[in-house]
Amino acid sequence: MLILGIETSCDETAICFLEIKEGRFKILSNIVSSQVRIHQKYGGVVPEKAARKHLEIILLIIKQGLSEVAKNSKELSKLIKKIDTLAVTIGPGLMTSLLVGTETAKTLAYIWGKPIIGINHLEGHIYANWLMSPSNAKGRMLKIKDIPFPALCLIVSGGHTELILMKGHNQYQKLGQTHDDAVGEAFDKVAKLLNLGYPGGPIIAKLARKGNSQAFALPRPMINSKDSNFSFSGLKTAVSYLVRDLLSMHHPLPVTDLCASFQQAAIDVLVKKTVQAAKKLVLSGRKGSKIKSVLLSGGVAANKELRQQLAKKIKAELPNVRCQMSDVKFCTDNATMIALAGYFRVVKRDFTPWQKLKINPNLEL
Ligand code: KG4
Ligand code: ZN
Repeated sequence: MLILGIETSCDETAICFLEIKEGRFKILSNIVSSQVRIHQKYGGVVPEKAARKHLEIILLIIKQGLSEVAKNSKELSKLIKKIDTLAVTIGPGLMTSLLVGTETAKTLAYIWGKPIIGINHLEGHIYANWLMSPSNAKGRMLKIKDIPFPALCLIVSGGHTELILMKGHNQYQKLGQTHDDAVGEAFDKVAKLLNLGYPGGPIIAKLARKGNSQAFALPRPMINSKDSNFSFSGLKTAVSYLVRDLLSMHHPLPVTDLCASFQQAAIDVLVKKTVQAAKKLVLSGRKGSKIKSVLLSGGVAANKELRQQLAKKIKAELPNVRCQMSDVKFCTDNATMIALAGYFRVVKRDFTPWQKLKINPNLEL
């Protein structure tokens, strides 16, 4: 089966040609065109500029992808015939950005006569967990991972922080979410107030390695609440007050210590809440809830400290639960995860006629 995945929900224009056969996959082409440089000077994504750039780039990268797979015009028409379905992100995300990818996919589905599947962006992030690292593939097909259900999934991205219970493929039950900022948003806002640029996550993670995570006592909002909800805006505000106080004392900003202390506060909350939810599910005895895996997805899942600390805690406290993480290459937005999520829907024949496919910026799992 050959799937063309398309992702334009925020500030990455991405496409992927994904081949799947007998439980194995091969990435024929995976292109992510990032708009980071455009949005950097504004310290965040400007929706109007994002949509315009998606429009400029989307057909170019589809054409580039096609020519990476097909070397001449004969191969190209064969390749187009071989495509079984298109999978496109229809939400959540920025309305105008989503429209570009979805309308492009609908147009191609119409002119090529192919079925189309609308994918929830968060479902894509979750399915990144099923992808093996392609770095050692050397042209071979790799196994789609076999992850035991039920699974508890922590999604940490620029727009979402959610704990989801999956009892099986495509079955989602939201256990909790952030009341305000997403954790990725907190990384981005803290980076902005420290003048570190956008996106904040990777640069904060890098500077934190050189800092002392105990240097400043920052709050861990909702760490002791018994539910599975989160809150990160208070943590971001605490950093901004701290920066203001340090500057008013004409103190040079200890940037690495601030980054390390902030990052550790965020990780403490994420790890504690995830392990708490996992333990509750293991002990609950409710049918279909006794989890066998914990999954980690979304852009912030690329954070090495978070990965290590979560894995360590799960191993120590829930040794029979498998701790699974998206390969770092697939944590941030890409179209391979969208194509793979599409595959798990094709299996269920979950197509929508292109005329009926609509975006939903607030789509929930
Ligand atoms: O999933 P994603 O690419 O886009 C959304 O769906 O939002 O996530 C982007 C977020 C940004 O907030 C970015 O700062 C954060 O992921 N991020 C990181 C790291 N790499 C990306 N946060 C912490 N540590 C990282 N290494
Ligand atoms: Zn994302």
